[in-house]
Amino acid sequence: MLRQLHKYPGLIASLLVVFLALSGVILSVLPALDRAGAPAVPATGTDVATVAGKIAANFPGIEHITRTPSGKVIAFYYKNDQPMSSLVDPATGKAIAPYDRSKFEHWMKSLHRSLFLGDKGRITAGVGAAAMLILTLSGLWMTARRMGGWSKLLSKSRGTKMQRLHVDLARLAVVGLILSSFTGIYITLATFEIIPDGMATPPAFPESVNGGATMPVDQIAPLKNLDLSQLRELVFPYPGDPTDVYTLATDTGDGYIDQSTGEMLTWQPHSAVQQVYETIYMLHTGKGLWWLALLLGLASATVPVMAFTGIVMWWRARKGRPRIRANQGAQAADTIILVGSEGGSTWGFARTLHDSLTKAGHKVHTAPMNSLKPAYRKAGNMFILTATYGDGEAPQSAKNFLARLEAFNGKPDFKVAVLGFGDRQFPKFAQFARDVDAALESRGWERLLDTDFIDRQSTQEFNRWGRDVAKALGEELALEHVPVLPRRHPLTLVSREDYGAEVQAPTSILRFSLPESGLLARITGRAMPKFEAGDLVGIIPPGSNVPRYYSLASSAKDGMLEICVKKHPGGQCSGYLHELQPGDTVQAFIRPNPDFRPAKGKAPVILIGAGTGIGPLAGFIRGNDKARPMHLYFGARDPKSDFLYRNDLEQWLAERKLTGLNAAFSRVENRSYVQDIIKQDAETLRELINNGAHILVCGGRSMANGVMEALEQVLAPTGLEPATLKAQGRYAEDVY
Ligand SMILES: Cc1cc2nc3c(=O)[nH]c(=O)nc-3n(C[C@H](O)[C@H](O)[C@H](O)COP(=O)(O)O)c2cc1C
Repeated sequence: MLRQLHKYPGLIASLLVVFLALSGVILSVLPALDRAGAPAVPATGTDVATVAGKIAANFPGIEHITRTPSGKVIAFYYKNDQPMSSLVDPATGKAIAPYDRSKFEHWMKSLHRSLFLGDKGRITAGVGAAAMLILTLSGLWMTARRMGGWSKLLSKSRGTKMQRLHVDLARLAVVGLILSSFTGIYITLATFEIIPDGMATPPAFPESVNGGATMPVDQIAPLKNLDLSQLRELVFPYPGDPTDVYTLATDTGDGYIDQSTGEMLTWQPHSAVQQVYETIYMLHTGKGLWWLALLLGLASATVPVMAFTGIVMWWRARKGRPRIRANQGAQAADTIILVGSEGGSTWGFARTLHDSLTKAGHKVHTAPMNSLKPAYRKAGNMFILTATYGDGEAPQSAKNFLARLEAFNGKPDFKVAVLGFGDRQFPKFAQFARDVDAALESRGWERLLDTDFIDRQSTQEFNRWGRDVAKALGEELALEHVPVLPRRHPLTLVSREDYGAEVQAPTSILRFSLPESGLLARITGRAMPKFEAGDLVGIIPPGSNVPRYYSLASSAKDGMLEICVKKHPGGQCSGYLHELQPGDTVQAFIRPNPDFRPAKGKAPVILIGAGTGIGPLAGFIRGNDKARPMHLYFGARDPKSDFLYRNDLEQWLAERKLTGLNAAFSRVENRSYVQDIIKQDAETLRELINNGAHILVCGGRSMANGVMEALEQVLAPTGLEPATLKAQGRYAEDVY
């Protein structure tokens, strides 16, 4: 429900909200400009009587004095029967400059408040403020859910660049936006008298006055006791009219003063309701609080960017959800596919499964997990494909699944297979699929296949699962997922270094030149995107539709693209790459991997890798121009054969880009693995981690698991755990 509230008013009202926000940004600067133009108020003699006395001496035709919220004192007076106004210096009472209310400010305010449409415009602006409040609150709720709960609201944002920008800006601006939109609604409601603003009618004019000679203004006691900062307006009695009075408006109330005795004749304090209204007005406009106005302006400035990123994210998720062809009704289908997705990618996999089962003659019904029915009359098999979000929670289209499962009629006749999509960089990998698995297990649902998992939308893993499905069904299934791939760019091999042949681990460091891209390509976004070490390059070998991903050992700044590739027996892509000779060209695309790179800052970095896992780590060291402490723990087979980057590492040590190098070799006497050297270096590691170190691990899954266990032992005396570091974003893995 809250998501719908975020989406629909978001789309409809985004134009209005962006307009209000932008005009608000412009207005937000005015109090600071106004304040900057106000002369300093003297430390002493700032009572209204003294200041008014000086002004009256300088302006014989004085009519009234106003003090603006930013502290400017303005004298309104008559000269040669002409009304005039001047900005005055409160210290001397002399004119500084003629005062003219800014036409631009007036115009901008009318635009912001009413779009020049009178009451209709005011109502529209109020609706805009309400839409902004709904968007902000629903967005806050969605962010908390995505991050894994309110307690993790401020933790590192995840997802694509656009998703992270949206969330980061939202977290920065949320308080300001709530304040601006809430106060905007309040002011609109008060304008239409739906809620009171407490503005009373002026106090009753005194019935009788003394009528004697006028007392000089600087001797009037109530004005002597009133600080200038509290003054709003002082109107002088009409010259020569003994029945007139001084009319005073202050921050706390309004009153009339006898011009001859200086006595306060009537005083009407502001009501509490009026004070609330005025505070709210001040919080909305920043009048008198220029710094608040600027902060609110900054918060508003994020709105157009959030509207843009929000709409693009919504559009991408929509586009990512493909149309399911020949979708059968739930009760007519023999195969049910239920999908748990938030970003849309799981739908692409579901469609591949749907299409191949349909082609094989099945009647397939594909639907979100939230639409689980209490029964499926004709189903023989059910497939549940689900992602995980937040901190191991359900994605949007599966939020109600477990509750609906409660309402399912008994044990079904069909068999079920669960496929969990997730990312191993999260502490709770594919946790929601595991929860679904456990719930089905406890209800005794029969399995077609054991629950399986896909890391980072790996097409290869999915196709492997597809073969398991075909086997379990005893059918020929042409189940090959062809992901929608980004634009590819030509990379030409410039050089290669070969290692490891002697120890049965043929590994090459391949360096490619980057394609030239003209200005037009850059403007139109057709140029190869910039990349960092740790991002991935996708390469599709000839004869395949499926990309293989390699971690980048260089960043675009290095002017080349470098990867480390081990030749796998029968490996289609690694075989293809190992055959390349300088001058050969491959087609490739970049896939960002922003969670796998050293966190910003100066904290030490611990790099752990084995075999080709050193690739991105070498890239991080090469880019360590600021000589931040970096410690490498590297595992290989034999220093004589597969000590990748040996010369570079020595040079980087000399250049202080690398602080410490520990290597382990498994095919030599006294063999050791990377886990062993981690345990041996426990004390240094504990100290580094206590100093806020960030840990990056790259290599095979079993090595990563071994490293995790070794670090668990190393950290045991400190009470810290790798899982905690992972949750804090201080421990990241790039594992294959
Ligand atoms: C904000 C966010 C939180 C995530 N949380 C987890 C998690 O806790 N565990 C996990 O295994 N994957 C997590 N993922 C990864 C997604 O489950 C994975 O990318 C999945 O393939 C996305 O599928 P979808 O595009 O259909 O939503 C998270 C992704 C994002 C963007």
